[in-house]
Amino acid sequence: MNNEQYLKEINEAVGYLAQKVEKFPEILVILGSGLGDYADTFKNKMVISYNDIPNFPKSTVVGHSGNLVIGEVHGKLVVAMQGRVHFYEGYSMREVTFPARVFSALGVKKAVITNAAGGINRDFLTGALMIITDHINFMGDNALKGPNLETFGPRFPDMSEAYNLSLRNKMKSVADNLNINIKEGVYIAMSGPTYETPAEIRMASALGADAVGMSTVPEVAVFNHSGVEVVGVSCITNLAAGISETKLSHDEVKETAERVKGIFTELIDNFLREL
Ligand code: HPA
Repeated sequence: MNNEQYLKEINEAVGYLAQKVEKFPEILVILGSGLGDYADTFKNKMVISYNDIPNFPKSTVVGHSGNLVIGEVHGKLVVAMQGRVHFYEGYSMREVTFPARVFSALGVKKAVITNAAGGINRDFLTGALMIITDHINFMGDNALKGPNLETFGPRFPDMSEAYNLSLRNKMKSVADNLNINIKEGVYIAMSGPTYETPAEIRMASALGADAVGMSTVPEVAVFNHSGVEVVGVSCITNLAAGISETKLSHDEVKETAERVKGIFTELIDNFLREL
């Protein structure tokens, strides 16, 4: 798709959302697997179905609801995504990152991204939370490929601190205060939808990855492009292939996400209070 058409579609979504609220939030939270319910606790909230937002991609994954929730958290305006679309669903990178473009155009300044990931680091147990310090893009594509969107940012964006250091430090201190033994590490993104082979996980480990998943990296590229500060936390829902003694399954991922939901939500909620 050419830039003109893409920008037109972005602007349609921006226009639709801008007229919904007096002021669009500057804080975005992307709620990954199992965390969607958190947005139900927002005060004075408005729920907007992805179906109603022009050109917004809709998730095809069962159990991922598709709503935008705009409301107040500890007196701050926040917009939350309940569910996101993934590259493995067949969407192009531009489609996957369409929401990120729209939020950036609406003036979002900080993005809190959550996801589910497989644990590669041998010190990680199932259910651990990990602050993403950096990532490796192994998806075989890049969200910024194609003619540069000059109104958003430069052709060759710097990624030296893709995950904002001061937000990471804040997340760490919030976790410490809650007595959460939070991990930190590098997230490697694969395209999926297959889980990895044990050989791929050995490779990822040798490359320096601590956790593996199928999301986040495209959005993080787009946010960095346009100067939105990012902080990301992974829930280690399973041990990665070859490290796990059992076969990988989406059921295990969902079960762990459900088990950790309370503490994960508490972390994000306290982080937003401190932000
Ligand atoms: N691999 C890739 N993505 C994942 C995993 C995994 O083991 N667990 C949750 N998302």
